[in-house]
Amino acid sequence: MEIAVVGSGYVGLVTGACLAQIGHKVTCIDINVEKINKLKKGLTPIYEPGLELMLKDLIKKKRISFSSSIKSGTKDAVAIFIAVGTPSKSNGEADLTYVENVAREIAENMHSYKLLVEKSTVPAETGYRIRRTVQMNLPKKYRKAGGSSSFNFDVASNPEFLREGSAIEDFMHPDRVVVGVESKKAEEIFREIYKPLKPRMIFTDLKSAELIKHASNSFLATKISFINSIAQVCDRVGADVLKVAEGMGYDKRIGRAFLDAGIGYGGSCFPKDVDAFVHLSHKSGYDFILLEAVRKVNEVQRRAFVRMIEDKLWIVKNKTIAVWGLSFKPNTDDMRSAAALDIIQTLQKEGANIKAFDPQAMVNAQELLPGVTMVKDMYCAVKGAHCLLALTEWAEFKTADFKKVYNLMQQPLIFDGRNMFAGHNLEKFGFEYYGIGRGLSK
Ligand code: UDX
Ligand code: UDX
Repeated sequence: MEIAVVGSGYVGLVTGACLAQIGHKVTCIDINVEKINKLKKGLTPIYEPGLELMLKDLIKKKRISFSSSIKSGTKDAVAIFIAVGTPSKSNGEADLTYVENVAREIAENMHSYKLLVEKSTVPAETGYRIRRTVQMNLPKKYRKAGGSSSFNFDVASNPEFLREGSAIEDFMHPDRVVVGVESKKAEEIFREIYKPLKPRMIFTDLKSAELIKHASNSFLATKISFINSIAQVCDRVGADVLKVAEGMGYDKRIGRAFLDAGIGYGGSCFPKDVDAFVHLSHKSGYDFILLEAVRKVNEVQRRAFVRMIEDKLWIVKNKTIAVWGLSFKPNTDDMRSAAALDIIQTLQKEGANIKAFDPQAMVNAQELLPGVTMVKDMYCAVKGAHCLLALTEWAEFKTADFKKVYNLMQQPLIFDGRNMFAGHNLEKFGFEYYGIGRGLSK
């Protein structure tokens, strides 16, 4: 099937590449000409494991192409996926300017049936608004009285559940594919698109599909804030959150996933989606106090980590602090709402000198953290440091040579914001070790 994907960011690019990989002919579109030129050469503007290799192969086989024009890029497409950014406004509401612009431009260039698919996370009722925008912006010759047109089009919601760092794997082996449709024709097109994956498909109305995405992300964020609250109690009563999570996780009704305590959730989805869902609920007349608390716990968690550092380090001013890991999670270069940003900025304000290493995110991070010295490897970071903060659980940190780390550091003090060295017994190397909720941080 001929498919167009508008927006070639983390979501759009992975979606486009994977749709091409399973047999469709895909055009990836982006307003950013520089990005498109890079992509044409097979260079990915983001780091996502496996993506660049896959794209190079697809380009060679002519199964994917790139364009900065909606007009030419969507001309032959039956389905058009919209995956442009939906940033937060200052009140938490999702800013849908880009979605509206794209819907209007698609409409202006529409001459036959198209299925428009919301892929970006959007509030319930966006589908209805896209439909109106398209109706009012079709070329005049196709418009008919009463808001109808000479040919049909469909709007559908097909939320993404891709985790950065394992997005290709998530696309190829989805737990489920959720689709909100308004016509049988749209349903059939989706069955055809996803047929090669043989997934469990859930068909709903448009608004329910939009809500499934918000509800799923908010529930996962709730799990994280819940276990982070348990971690706070563990620290105070001397219990170990890893054991508590393990014990809870064996209950099938609960499950162990997303019960890793740490410095809180970041990324382009959870913080933004929780904010947007709180805003949407409030606007509809319901105060979602549970989610307000989820958000607050996430903020408290970062502040508590900084307080622990201030307490154990004693004087922060002029101390050299080593940081391992900057991205919001491992296997990505994405710095959006990364916990490292808040934590580092607070310590910098207090006069600390920060030396940081991240395997992929240093270029993006340097723009946001101009005062931080980025170094070439994890050992350079700890040289002469008064303490080490582990903020993202990249695999290479877990196998570090801690004898070497001990010898390089000025003071043997480690704060592990992800409990990634939980089983390492760092005390035996001579370190003072503080994790999250390990009953040790009092
Ligand atoms: C985006 C949304 O932010 C998120 O809500 C949703 O769940 C998935 O899509 P992401 O792919 O991570 O997430 O965003 P980003 O990497 O910023 O990519 C968006 C792309 O859209 C950018 O490349 C941008 O240049 C492009 N864009 C934006 C357009 O092509 N046209 C526009 O009008 C605006
Ligand atoms: C998320 C959702 O998982 C995905 O389904 C959705 O569509 C997009 O948003 P992503 O943001 O890429 O994916 O990463 P995810 O693995 O969900 O982690 C989000 C944040 O939560 C990270 O900062 C991570 O460190 C944190 N997290 C995750 C925890 O603190 N504890 C956990 O147990 C799990």
